[in-house]
Amino acid sequence: MADVLVHKPVLLEEVLENLITDKSGTYLDATVGYGGHSLGILNRLNPEGKLIGTDRDQEALSVAKKNLEEFGDRVVLAQVSFSQLEDFLRQQNISQISGFLFDIGMGSWQIETEERGFSYLKPGPLDMRMDRKQSLTAYDIVNRYSEEKLVWIFKNYGEERFAKKIAKALKNTKSEIRTTSDLRKMVEKVVRTNVIKTLARVFQALRIEVNQELEELKKGIETAVKFLNPQGRLAIISYHSLEDRIVKESFRELAKGCKCPPTLPVCICGAKPELEILNKKPIVATEKEKKLNPKSRSAKLRVGVKI
Ligand SMILES: C[S@@+](CC[C@H](N)C(=O)[O-])C[C@H]1O[C@@H](n2cnc3c(N)ncnc32)[C@H](O)[C@@H]1O
Repeated sequence: MADVLVHKPVLLEEVLENLITDKSGTYLDATVGYGGHSLGILNRLNPEGKLIGTDRDQEALSVAKKNLEEFGDRVVLAQVSFSQLEDFLRQQNISQISGFLFDIGMGSWQIETEERGFSYLKPGPLDMRMDRKQSLTAYDIVNRYSEEKLVWIFKNYGEERFAKKIAKALKNTKSEIRTTSDLRKMVEKVVRTNVIKTLARVFQALRIEVNQELEELKKGIETAVKFLNPQGRLAIISYHSLEDRIVKESFRELAKGCKCPPTLPVCICGAKPELEILNKKPIVATEKEKKLNPKSRSAKLRVGVKI
């Protein structure tokens, strides 16, 4: 566990302004992490307002528990992934949520902790699991997946142009790739130009596959829209183009309603719009925040209103 037990929440003021419409409502922070945004939300609510904080990372939840202790039973924390949210809410008999927040991606503590194996800058095991109860790790993917599957992952989840070369080298090596340093050395052997960018893309691709991040995000959006009160808000912060594309396209589909093919002259599906898009362009950090918190540089906040 990293020594630093606070996380500077990204776009905090913008999130609070756009998320909170009922100060006595129940809000769900689906990426509670160390509780940075949750703390801001709770401070903004009335004493009747409640917060459900979920995350798939148990270590983060233990820190959030301490950081949010002062709010007592106004806070419920649980280890739940986006794809488990619907079952969790049904089991808890919760149906009325005033706002959902997803601050997706990784917590800085995850990247900075060597043993979690997320970073090419830190030596550690090839792990990359956000939920350490899960069995699939980056080690399994690198050493057990076929060359074709690795190419697909590096191309689609990393947008890496040397995908084929890297996958081939990984499959041709005699020794197992056990650590982040082994993987880094292997990539450095086959890619000579802009290798740092390639490393970032390869590590991103593996992380997305280990945690099934894009599928999880789609499921999370679906669940949020089902459980939001009318006029409730869905706020999503993403940090790279693959995630932002999913948020943008999902919002567009939900705002459109009709799912009929464009070739049909009239709608026969009867599906109605479920979400109004609040901001056509994503909200981004101010220059001041970008200087103070480098993580905010790539952040994009999109907000939808449940119809
Ligand atoms: C950027 S951090 C959130 C930081 C938090 N907003 C704060 O202020 O402390 C992202 C968090 O999302 C969690 N996460 C990512 N994907 C998830 C998923 N599919 N289900 C549940 N939690 C997820 C990670 O474990 C991590 O704790």
